[in-house]
Amino acid sequence: MKSIEKADIKKGTRVLVRVDWNVPIGENGEILDASRIEVSLKTIEYIKNKGGTPIVASHFGREGTSIEPVIDFAKENYSILEDGVEFLENLRKNSGEESNSEEFAKELADKADIYINEAFSVSHRKHASIVGVSKFLTSFAGFRFLEEYQNLSEVFNPKHPFLLILGGAKFETKLPLVQKFLDIADNIFIGGALAVKVLEMPASPTGREIADNSKIILPIGDITALDANRETLEKLNEKIKEAEFILWNGPLGNYEKGFVAGTTALARMLAKSNIKIILGGGDTLAVINKDIKKEISSHGFISTAGGAMLDFLANETLPGIEALNS
Ligand code: 3PG
Repeated sequence: MKSIEKADIKKGTRVLVRVDWNVPIGENGEILDASRIEVSLKTIEYIKNKGGTPIVASHFGREGTSIEPVIDFAKENYSILEDGVEFLENLRKNSGEESNSEEFAKELADKADIYINEAFSVSHRKHASIVGVSKFLTSFAGFRFLEEYQNLSEVFNPKHPFLLILGGAKFETKLPLVQKFLDIADNIFIGGALAVKVLEMPASPTGREIADNSKIILPIGDITALDANRETLEKLNEKIKEAEFILWNGPLGNYEKGFVAGTTALARMLAKSNIKIILGGGDTLAVINKDIKKEISSHGFISTAGGAMLDFLANETLPGIEALNS
């Protein structure tokens, strides 16, 4: 994968930058977390400093609503975006984006001389702006894309003891991780609704077989409880103290109904440790406050990817990575 630093960007070069500004929005349309905008600014600034014109392109939601409010917010809050930057409308307004139509990929490519993928968190999608456009333009990975790739790749060759903590409810995307990391991790804690779903698994390996594996740690007491209890958190804390490397994805409780205490307590424990922590998943990040995230970042990495992180961990690559390598 070629880094943006290898790109021949000079005065007048037009650079299509695929970012992921699919930011979470509150009830009144307010932006709840601008991290995904912030992580793309280094690449945009770099292009401008070289004399190029960044053409910023993102999707926003799944309904094809306008991304203009997000662009307005970004321009108001980050001075680097005030001038010399062009913006495209929500890519998913064009049906060719999701169907990866060659026509739409070409339409995007015609706007620029070079393509930068700065959207690791969308790179699990075989969409025109992620994979299609690379057929028409020389393509490079942005700074944040590379940072995501490098940090998440540490998981395949981790320091030991390696503790994997999985929560949440999305069984289909997380089960492949449990199966894959039984070989790599020293301990796997399975919490949240995921624990119940694993135990209910009828197919081979059955949930019982997984649960009986000595590497697996399940919540203590009532496994159907809506949040992690004190005993469970104490057990987790013991494992955190022994670990040299931790990866965490997914809340420990039913956060949508307000059961966030277990997830917050776990985040505090991780903030206090001083080992490498990799943390990701939109639901998990939504529960943890800014100060704790900052503390964790000082000795770890907070991924802005949700689905893409899980796909990458399970498959060790993504369609967007393959497109940059081809
Ligand atoms: C995300 O929010 O994980 C990315 O922006 C991808 O969005 P999607 O799940 O709608 O493809």
